[in-house]
Amino acid sequence: MLAGIGLGVGIPFVQGSAGSSSTGSLLRSRLPLPEPFTLPFRVPPVLRPRRSDEHADFYDIDQTVADAAIIPGVRTPIWGYQGMFPGPTIESRRGRAAMVTHTNRLPVPTVVHLHGGRTPHDSDGYPTDFVYPVDRSFMDEHAGAGGMHGSVMMGDTSDGERVYSYPLEQRAAMLWYHDHRMDFTGPAVWRGLAGMHIVRDETEDALGLPSGERELPLMITDRSFAADGSLLYPNVDPTLLVKPGVTDAFIAGVLGDVMLVNGTPWPQARVARASYRLRVLNACNARRLDLRLEARPAPQLVQIGTDGGLLASPIAHDHFELAPAQRLDALVDFSGYPPGTTVTLLNDFGDGNMSQIMRFMVEDREAEPYAIPDTLSTVEPLLARDAVARRTFRFRSGDVDHRKGWLIDGRPFRPNDIAAAVELGTVEVWRLVADFHHPVHIHLNPFQVLSRGIGGPGPFDAGWKDTIDLRPSEEAEIAIRFDGYRGKYVFHCHNLEHEDMAMMANFTTR
Ligand code: C2O
Ligand code: CU
Repeated sequence: MLAGIGLGVGIPFVQGSAGSSSTGSLLRSRLPLPEPFTLPFRVPPVLRPRRSDEHADFYDIDQTVADAAIIPGVRTPIWGYQGMFPGPTIESRRGRAAMVTHTNRLPVPTVVHLHGGRTPHDSDGYPTDFVYPVDRSFMDEHAGAGGMHGSVMMGDTSDGERVYSYPLEQRAAMLWYHDHRMDFTGPAVWRGLAGMHIVRDETEDALGLPSGERELPLMITDRSFAADGSLLYPNVDPTLLVKPGVTDAFIAGVLGDVMLVNGTPWPQARVARASYRLRVLNACNARRLDLRLEARPAPQLVQIGTDGGLLASPIAHDHFELAPAQRLDALVDFSGYPPGTTVTLLNDFGDGNMSQIMRFMVEDREAEPYAIPDTLSTVEPLLARDAVARRTFRFRSGDVDHRKGWLIDGRPFRPNDIAAAVELGTVEVWRLVADFHHPVHIHLNPFQVLSRGIGGPGPFDAGWKDTIDLRPSEEAEIAIRFDGYRGKYVFHCHNLEHEDMAMMANFTTR
């Protein structure tokens, strides 16, 4: 059935088992790839504030071109926050503001969005709130007058730098920050513009969860590499300034053939015989993951949290499906394994090497096993009967400026079209309908999944989500309480190739 729909609109899909699990096409690397589990696992450094006062921490981030060592023997030019991929991790406390000054030393405009952040409009990284490069020469030469985005109304732009202010009045959660420029988010994130931002609070502290070296962030990204070690991406416009999108073969999404965790291909982590907290982020452009741990006996992934922080109570999973932009907070107990045991994190949606992600090597060190409490946090259910409005949005392929693209309700993204005007403080139910896989993300407020088709929420839908994994021909209902800030925000597909080819729309809160 998938192939049938795909042929009808001329959208190619990966064949084989990946074909039914991700909407996208595989881009093959043109250099020899490293053996899995030969490179050490590393965690991105935590960014130190420039200064702190009573209410806020102040950070500086330089967005720069840099050389990274990703594949042994070659250098990979990246676009990185602080010249790193992933960018440095920011750690914040609930209610303590983070003020982040981003300076754009890249050749193109950028936009920073804090994904999962409850953020005022002017710091949310609206797709046309460009931060222009400090050095505009490349942009002026290649985009020219009326070049970039043609006649699209510009947003609230700034020159060289911008201070993003994040109040972080929200529950503890793993957020992430990434580029969000209109039409060019896919290639910018692919080149490295993504980092993690972890928010903590007292509810989480009280649980005494594994922390320090036993809390591991895992930013998973698939990438492809050219023969010279540079990142390969099928953008139609080499300048990434004028013409959005990818070549026809990749309209459905770009799938890489190298699995990176925190920027390292298939790493191996050394772990103690103890409980670990894995904070997994699927930061792939289009690839869905089906996570499973392999060892004898296989450890479970005990889910304690999701996009919007802790669940009400833990859920034990044998495997966990994670769509682009989604997060999984899970405990894994390595205490029962003899030293020398290897535990492999697999991706059951992938083929060949892409069916593996990383490996844990159990060492001869122990710690007290962690006893997981039955209650983790309070998750107040949102009820459909409290909704003041119900809306339906259809996520489908269609024509965008005479090319194949992706639409919401038949319309491509336009900064001035408002798809929904919502009343601040109210609950709404949104019915989302998909043709293919569309991980749908809504800015500003998290939501709860009420149903999928005629059934209830799926096994991976518990808790506060900010991205829902819609599968082909599926529809789902979600409930959202809009609160916090007034302004214009976007919702969109987080398959970044779909997003860039216009699968995005605006809502306003008033
Ligand atoms: Cu992770 Cu609108 O984005
Ligand atoms: Cu999509």
